[in-house]
Amino acid sequence: MQKLEVFGANKLKGQISISGSKNASLPILAATLLSNKKIYLKNLPKVKDIETMINLLESLGSKVKFHKKKFIIDNSSQKKKFASYNLVKTMRAGILVLGPLLAKFKNAKVSLPGGCAIGTRPIDIHLKALSKLGVKYKINQGYVHANAPKGLIGSKINFSKISVGATENLIIAACLAKGTTILTNCAIEPEIKDLVNFLTTIGCNIKWVAKRSVKIVGVNDTKEATYSVMFDRIEAGTYLIAAAVTEGNLKVKNILPNVIKTEINILKNIGAKINIKKDEVHIIGSKKIKNINIKTAPYPGFPTDLQAQIMVLLCKANKNSLIKEDIFENRFMHVAELNRMGGQILIKGNQAIVKGNTKFAAAELMATDLRASVSLILAALTTKGKSVINRIYHLDRGYENIEKKLKKVGAKIRRI
Ligand code: EPZ
Repeated sequence: MQKLEVFGANKLKGQISISGSKNASLPILAATLLSNKKIYLKNLPKVKDIETMINLLESLGSKVKFHKKKFIIDNSSQKKKFASYNLVKTMRAGILVLGPLLAKFKNAKVSLPGGCAIGTRPIDIHLKALSKLGVKYKINQGYVHANAPKGLIGSKINFSKISVGATENLIIAACLAKGTTILTNCAIEPEIKDLVNFLTTIGCNIKWVAKRSVKIVGVNDTKEATYSVMFDRIEAGTYLIAAAVTEGNLKVKNILPNVIKTEINILKNIGAKINIKKDEVHIIGSKKIKNINIKTAPYPGFPTDLQAQIMVLLCKANKNSLIKEDIFENRFMHVAELNRMGGQILIKGNQAIVKGNTKFAAAELMATDLRASVSLILAALTTKGKSVINRIYHLDRGYENIEKKLKKVGAKIRRI
């Protein structure tokens, strides 16, 4: 099993360019199943989850080629409707093929995604909403067996809870439904806006009619198109926090700063100096880090995917901070590892009391999930000595060339 060695402490200096968004690419790849025309996708990040989603599409009969920095996806002869456990179990976003398969073939058999380190991750909201479009389903031996004998019929659907995946699955499914679908109480993460932009580009009829409401009028066909996926805002936020925690001086490029306004404001409140340009954020970390209380929330709130990373920064603050994890029920797996490095973080239910003025010490560490593993790197960058991070396959799911990007800005890090 591969490991990462990090020799701290270093201040990150220079510039990092951000890759395409994993969490926009995954629903967009699933949505290509709607089309029988060639689709050209640019700026997909080279990360494991994208590879897994492409394997899943190929297992369904998609033809996927990579040529001149573009993925060419041809679903014209795609016929299969069975998404197997061995592909969906490693990447929960596999459930996003359910909507498009039902829209195109009126039936599908898709493995339940199963839970992961951060929570049980049910799909009840997806299934309840799909049944409003006329889908009948039963769950049997870990699979969803779903069908819509009369095809999907447009309907009004209000999500009982804001869910990124359920919003994506339903937007995609409704594109080929008969008639009009109105979805309310939708998640509005930038990745969902990117998905809607992609679907519009291939000829779907979708309009945001209120902050969290979207109207989809079913179409009969889609067209050939090229689309470039948005930047990865969580990767961008991770490197901004890395600069703040190492008192670095970093330019994070290829981004749209107004998409990460919340994160930028929090970093300013904590004491970092921030200069914003059209497609770049220049951050200078300060010696004195002010404490702050944070609650994770659906967009435009503070993203749960940056909670582990900001926790490392708050360990260095001048006083205690409180972090409330309001999205997932078990997203503090990084706390035990950070405490082994000298962190003094106390968990009470879904709240973490983060003691300030922590001096981390290098240690041998275990990654548990994608974002927790990157928080261990951030902590290791602030300590003298060698830290070793095990199970970095978690990291490779969502960060493209992370050690190369960090080395370029002064980190002493290597994969062994
Ligand atoms: C997406 O997961 C992201 N994944 C997650 O990023 C992200 O943390 C999450 O949204 C929240 O922003 C991708 O986009 C591939 P949800 P998703 O449905 O869609 C509960 C990363 O690190 N829920 O918004 O699974 C659920 O258990 C990953 O890149 C139900 O109860 O998130 C959770 O507590 C991690 N029933 C909450 O809602 C359902 O049917 C939010 O989940 C669906 C969700």
